[in-house]
Amino acid sequence: MSRTAAVVPAAGKGMRLGPGAPKALRPLGGSPLLVHAVRALSLARGVDVVVVAAPEDEVDMVRALLSEVVSDAELTVVAGGDTRQSSVARALIALPSDVDVVLVHDAARPLVPVEMVERVAVAVRAGAPAVIPVLKLVDTVKTVDAEGRVVSTPDRSHLRAVQTPQGFTRSVLQQAHANAEVDDVTDDAGLVERQGVEVVTVLGHEEAFKVTRPMDLVLAEAVLSRRRAGGVVG
Ligand code: C5P
Repeated sequence: MSRTAAVVPAAGKGMRLGPGAPKALRPLGGSPLLVHAVRALSLARGVDVVVVAAPEDEVDMVRALLSEVVSDAELTVVAGGDTRQSSVARALIALPSDVDVVLVHDAARPLVPVEMVERVAVAVRAGAPAVIPVLKLVDTVKTVDAEGRVVSTPDRSHLRAVQTPQGFTRSVLQQAHANAEVDDVTDDAGLVERQGVEVVTVLGHEEAFKVTRPMDLVLAEAVLSRRRAGGVVG
């Protein structure tokens, strides 16, 4: 038997959101961000295992919080690390041996649509070793020097904003983490690329945005209200 696991880094402090609880535990529509994210992952077809990297002091609380959210999947909660990358690495150590596909999803993307999770998982199962969901950019992007002077303007048609979940075969992801020479890469595909492994893209979704700044929470509340008004459970 081979199973698919969702790994959820949720140990960030969320400083850019302002003072308060760790980001993954901030409320959205009455439940923590993490609950929304884990619910979407566990509703996705084929996700059998969920491993959450929680803030170090909140491991038991998070386990209790999620035990009812994850009804059909197997749940493990571990203590996260000082960086996102180390939180993912700690979660990978806890994977059951029969897992061969891993989706890594930020707790900070609570409103990821279930069908987008499935799109990533299907692409890995179909043979891609590394899959990332992306969106075209709406803003023009500039590269600047240390003083803020514009150096260049990359062709926007070749740029993409990257979301999660990112999907990998377990061996590719574990190898990339084992060989990592840095500890602060902000997405797992970044590590996999350094191994020379091809990373393919699938279509992301506007509602999979990351809650980072206070304004993002306002937007997330609005999206959730619209979903609930439309009869979607969330
Ligand atoms: O900081 P940022 O919003 O980019 O974090 C992305 C995700 O990584 C969040 O879900 C956050 O909880 C997680 N993270 C973590 N451990 C850290 C830092 C961030 O699990 N030390």
